[in-house]
Parts: sequence; C-alpha cells; structure tokens
Amino acid sequence: MPVIRTNSAEIAYREFGSGTPLLLIHGFPLDGSMWDPVAEKLAQRFRVLIPDLRGFGASPWSSSHPPQSADDVTANKSQFAISDYADDLVDFCAALGVEHAIVCGLSMGGYVALSFALHHRDRLLGLILCDTRAAADTPEAAAARKTTAERVFRDGTGFLAEAMLPKLYSPQQVEASSPLVERTLTLIQNADPRGVAAAALAMAARPNVIARLEEITVPTLVICGEADVISPPAEMAAWSAELPRGRFVRIADAGHMSPEEQPETFVAAVLSWAEDQELI
Ligand code: MLT
Repeated sequence: MPVIRTNSAEIAYREFGSGTPLLLIHGFPLDGSMWDPVAEKLAQRFRVLIPDLRGFGASPWSSSHPPQSADDVTANKSQFAISDYADDLVDFCAALGVEHAIVCGLSMGGYVALSFALHHRDRLLGLILCDTRAAADTPEAAAARKTTAERVFRDGTGFLAEAMLPKLYSPQQVEASSPLVERTLTLIQNADPRGVAAAALAMAARPNVIARLEEITVPTLVICGEADVISPPAEMAAWSAELPRGRFVRIADAGHMSPEEQPETFVAAVLSWAEDQELI
C-alpha cells in the first residue's frame, strides 16, 4: 500500500478512479478495507481516497505518543483527540494535491468527518455522515471506553471483537457468520492495542457538536442502517434536521455497517445526492 508521511503520522491509503475527490474514513476498530464493497462502484464517478487512520490497518501508531500501556491509560496520559485524526487527513489530502473533498465517515469516521467539517471547512465540498453520532458520550459510556483501553493492553483485542460484532451487523449477518462478519472479526483481533486504546479514549473525550451543526453549510448526506443499534435511525434523523443542507436516508436490511451490508443501496444514495447537489 502507498504511504503518505505527514508532519506527525504515516498514513497508508488506497486510491481509485478520478473526478471529485471523495475521502472515505473507516470506523472503530477497523481499517479502510471496510469500504471495499463500495469503493469500485464509487470510483466510477469519484476520485476515491481510502486512508487507514493513524494506528489502524497499515498506518502505524506514532510511537512518541502515549498510550503505550495500560498504566498510561489509567494515568490519563493519552494526548490524542478526534481532531488529531482530522488534522492528519488534512495533511494527507494536501500531500496528494487535494485542496477540496467530499468527506465521508462511518461511526468513529463520522466523528472525524464532523471534526474535519468544523475545523477545516475551507477544504470541504460536501459531507457524508454514516451511522454516527453528533452527541458526546455519556459519563458511563466514557468510563467504559477507558476500561476497554486498559483491557486491550492486558488481554489483546479479541474480547472487543466478540462484544462488537453483534452491534455492528444486522442479526441475519451475525447468525449466518457471513464472510463479512468473519473478515471483521479477524480485522479486530489483529488491531494494534495502542491505536485501539488511543481511539477509544479520543472517542470518550469528543465534544457534543449538535449545537454546532448549523455551522455546516455544505450539502450533507446522513445515512443510517435501519437496524443500527449503536447510532439508531431515530437519533440520527433528529440531529440531522439541524443541518442547514442535510438529507437523511435510511437503509433497509442493514445494521451499523450499512455500506458493507447494502453496498448497492448505499452507492445509489450517494450518487443521487451528489448529482442533485451538483458535486459530480
Ligand atoms: C464505530 O463503529 O466506529 C464505533 O462503534 C463508534 C463508537 O463506539 O462510538
């Protein structure tokens, strides 16, 4: 995989197609391969850029930063924020000569996309928020993330795979142990504990941005799998109404991983929105 070296990180990525740049940001604790089912179809109309976020997939964790151990987590030494991933991606785009892009993120990737939209709006053509949340964690959820971050150093990431899979996919996929589910299981089991811990703590500290959605003036598509239990459709529909140029789309027969579970419907929703907004 090619790698872009920015001031602070090494970002491995894949690139397909040509046209309006479309940056696809993966969820937690995955990597860019979660976009495989839609990448080639989207590449017929876009220049698709799929990075692995710092510390995930083929992008190494930057060793100068904590957390490096469970003790770093317990001592609250992590210095990493969701906005750091967004800053990495701004440098990544600049290195590739991409001045403006449509930024699309799923779940944790959506938190990064929202940070990108609020802090780097001059670089944004449009925004796609998939199966994600605009509110902050509750104190209980944030505390559970800290426990997760400590535990991945002690026990590895296997427990996280078992806990997350039933929440990521619709019940049909999980019951059938589909190849999709098996692939994601392997991906989570192989994730770097340092990247996973840093991301869990960054998510726990992310701000509530609901009151700032009105600042996002670019066309914004909000997509949610009908059976998503992590970012449920009713919650996503409610906050997406705050977006000045928002469009909300539900995807039937999909859980949290809507682009993987229903790639054709997902691509159709993106293309029709991008055409209507004259982005392609
Ligand atoms: C994800 O899919 O990225 C995670 O479920 C996000 C989260 O835990 O909030």
